[in-house]
Amino acid sequence: MPDVIIPWPFTRLYDRYPNRIFAKWFVKIAEEVKDKGISGNIADLGTGPGRLPIEIAKQVKKARLFGIDLSKDMIKLARKNAEMAGVADRIEFSVATASYTGLKANSMDLVLSTNTLHHLADPVKAFNEIYRILKPGAEAWVFDGRRDATRAEFLETVRKLDLADDIPVSIISRLWPLIHVGSKTEAYYSGKIGIAIKQSSFKKAEITPEGTFMRLRLKKA
Ligand SMILES: C[S@@+](CC[C@H](N)C(=O)[O-])C[C@H]1O[C@@H](n2cnc3c(N)ncnc32)[C@H](O)[C@@H]1O
Repeated sequence: MPDVIIPWPFTRLYDRYPNRIFAKWFVKIAEEVKDKGISGNIADLGTGPGRLPIEIAKQVKKARLFGIDLSKDMIKLARKNAEMAGVADRIEFSVATASYTGLKANSMDLVLSTNTLHHLADPVKAFNEIYRILKPGAEAWVFDGRRDATRAEFLETVRKLDLADDIPVSIISRLWPLIHVGSKTEAYYSGKIGIAIKQSSFKKAEITPEGTFMRLRLKKA
């Protein structure tokens, strides 16, 4: 089964709605990067319209960002969004796969990925690629929905992360199924992801449920 990219014109819908809903969550991830004193080279795999690297570029002035996505139209949108945010000079967006990013081995101080794991037919290949591009001792933070997350956990996440932005929670809760528009696969169970990590170069990871999401913290030895 191939990886699932979001095709045009759903790319445009994704940029306008679900991705905008995640804006405040991206701000929080960027704050965490800043608070932990991480800078240098930071990659975002499955970057979509690029809002996470854009936010990090705004908050972490010494960071150089690399956004990777398999969809040409997403990368076009990401470049436009970076131009509009005034940070295009510090972000390199490329059309490539999470399984082969084209980034140099041992070059990244942090690798991020949000809402993309469930698009990948073979997560082991992506984990091995993340391992290859990370500097020794550096981490990857991979976030994705959990298949076993409940609607109640989703609503709690919406409130806690303030995901809804200016859209009322009552509407957001109805939009939940649309967040996966363009994705023909379902979210993974954390147990299945644990097995994939064991089969990868990382061998182990911290897997933490965070509301409706799971966060994988992978460290290169
Ligand atoms: C749900 S979107 C997530 C976008 C963004 N990270 C976010 O959180 O809003 C998933 C993205 O992964 C991309 N994608 C799917 N398979 C991929 C692959 N093998 N390598 C890189 N990107 C991929 C899709 O084109 C899409 O832009």
